Amino acid sequence: MNSIEKQVEEILSKLSLKEKIGQLNQQETPVGEEVESFKEQVRNGEIGSILMSVGATAGNDAQGAVNVKFYNELQRIAVEESRSGIPILFGRDVIHGHRTVFPIPLAMTASFNEELIEKAYEDISREASNDSIHWTFTPMLDLSRDPRWGRIIEGTGEDPYLGSVFAKAAVKGLQGDNPADKDRILACAKHFLGYGASEGGRDYNRTEISDYTLNNYYIPAFKSAVSAGVKTVMSAFNDISGQPVTSSKYYLTDILRDRLGFDGFVVSDYDAVCQLARQGVAENDADCAELALKAGLDMDMHDKVYLNELENLVKSGRVSTDTIDNAVRRVLKVKILKGLFENPYCERREYDISKHREDAKELAAESVVLLKNNGVLPLDKSANVGLVGPFVHERRSLMGSWMLDGKAEETPTVYETIKAKSEGSVVSVNGTGLSWDSSLKWMYNTDVTVLCLGESWTATGEFRSQAEVSLAPDQIKLIEKARSTGKKVVGVLFCGRPVAMQGIAENFDALLLAWHGGSEVASAVADIIYGDTVPCGRMPMTVIRESTHIPMYYNVTSSGRPVNCYYGENAGECYIDSLATPYYPFGFGLSYTEFNYGDIKCDKKEIALNELKEGKKFKISIDIKNDGEFDGKETVQLYIHDKLASFMRPIKELKAFKKVLFKKGETATVDFEIGFDDLGFYLPNGEYTVEKGEIEVFIGKDCLTDRKITVLIK
Ligand code: BGC
Repeated sequence: MNSIEKQVEEILSKLSLKEKIGQLNQQETPVGEEVESFKEQVRNGEIGSILMSVGATAGNDAQGAVNVKFYNELQRIAVEESRSGIPILFGRDVIHGHRTVFPIPLAMTASFNEELIEKAYEDISREASNDSIHWTFTPMLDLSRDPRWGRIIEGTGEDPYLGSVFAKAAVKGLQGDNPADKDRILACAKHFLGYGASEGGRDYNRTEISDYTLNNYYIPAFKSAVSAGVKTVMSAFNDISGQPVTSSKYYLTDILRDRLGFDGFVVSDYDAVCQLARQGVAENDADCAELALKAGLDMDMHDKVYLNELENLVKSGRVSTDTIDNAVRRVLKVKILKGLFENPYCERREYDISKHREDAKELAAESVVLLKNNGVLPLDKSANVGLVGPFVHERRSLMGSWMLDGKAEETPTVYETIKAKSEGSVVSVNGTGLSWDSSLKWMYNTDVTVLCLGESWTATGEFRSQAEVSLAPDQIKLIEKARSTGKKVVGVLFCGRPVAMQGIAENFDALLLAWHGGSEVASAVADIIYGDTVPCGRMPMTVIRESTHIPMYYNVTSSGRPVNCYYGENAGECYIDSLATPYYPFGFGLSYTEFNYGDIKCDKKEIALNELKEGKKFKISIDIKNDGEFDGKETVQLYIHDKLASFMRPIKELKAFKKVLFKKGETATVDFEIGFDDLGFYLPNGEYTVEKGEIEVFIGKDCLTDRKITVLIK
């Protein structure tokens, strides 16, 4: 037994059954009249954790600012007035920023820059920990192929490898090497498992996922979070093929703990325990509590079902004390690891918020994806610019959904940032305030029109799915008007999801996807528009032509017939009435400079499977030249295709990438090493296997690259 285990046992041995159950109970911050009775609950040892927000969809509602004094007072009652003296764990949804707001996670992923993502989460944890927060419910690692799903903004898109890279960066950034560090907070990998596959993109909907698909697509990011040391996991609302995850021992214990080796605690999603009755697998609250606890779900968020039911369940013999003790042990262990017993209170510390703003700007800039450019960008600073559209003066939506503590008034607008840089004239027309004809007049009088379009933050997030992923009809009308002036038209899209591009992208001379990019996105956009920053973001999701094509994702298996729509093989035959290729493929993004790729080289043509198992690797390299007029960053992507395997393998799967800065005119060699962990796949039973045979290795700018070599595993 190590010292933490000893401490856990010592605390546990002194707890009454009621106090133990209290550790498994999380309630939300009390307001108004609830406060006094809540304090009594704390005194009685009934509150193990507090959810520092109010409401079932906290990301959509205005939340009160964190009142450090109030939380310290609650903590004092727990530590000094409750019999057990166990501190409360305070958790809040700090999803992509606290006071400083970083891009939504999907946009962060578009940066393909794990160092910046890690730095962002380090900044976020510094700000949040100064506001009493010990624990955040992020990263959301739900792979999703459906941009209709509002929660797509919180995730990392359609690729398991990118998800795994993000998971590691976020967990490391939040928890650091030692989560007891006062500037760090605990991460929570959510929502385990399969939530991103909600049928039709309709939130909270059922999912149908085979074990093969779960293992190869949905689990890897969680595996990566566990390997990075994530201390908590949140279970998902959904069922998988008829089994609610909340009550599934298979998912929460057999896979999460036994297979992935997770040793922290599992918290339910909001009210998910009592919802087992609505899902039709439990008759009443007692059944719900029994099923969830026995499945391996340790802490019950909000619905008080554990608090109200577990004692009787133990007394009636339906739940053993051992089962309770094991859950409590896991919660206590995490509290100890967080250093709560040494430092239960929040003492505010100094930090340099301007540094966080700089980091937010850097990440926002690297997240922006240049989708199209007919040479109009970058603009000359002397150009006369017409800024038109509903996002010219917008602040709040730039910060995105799931943002509880940022301040709109601290978020510059595109008008302000362009005006500050321009040496020409800047006129602005707020597309929602004026008639189209008056906007048109302005457009005629400028050198270039910059249309600032997008979707409101309220069109994204939890329970905010959309049947059609497009721009609003009045925005499409505005694009057509702008086109009709014959002037150059640049589009800047502030969206939470990649919207369908058919009928939109064709009308622009240049198009930037700036996402809901956070506090500094408008500054980043102005730098890109004027060429002070060279764009380098890449699509973490496929950009579809039209909503009816959903789902469309790059890592599909090959059809037996000669059609692979995504890759353009007889794509015209996939639908009689529309072209089923992506508008922009996964991994796509342009630059102001031009990168030319040489041939792929590999140090050997073949390796024996045994040697791979022992750690031998293929060393692969490629020379790339920056042939353009700017210094710029290129994201070099490596995909593989396992040509012959016992299960069908994807036509392309991303296995590595490197983001490299090339000076103008510079040629550099980019190296990769791929070995056992990159070349295999998971069987339905979760076993990892690498099979003999040929593997195609592709390197390029996006998933459509056909530059390849073949290596052999003997
Ligand atoms: C969401 C979670 C969130 C929790 C607490 C739920 O509705 O699904 O992602 O962490 O609320 O706010």
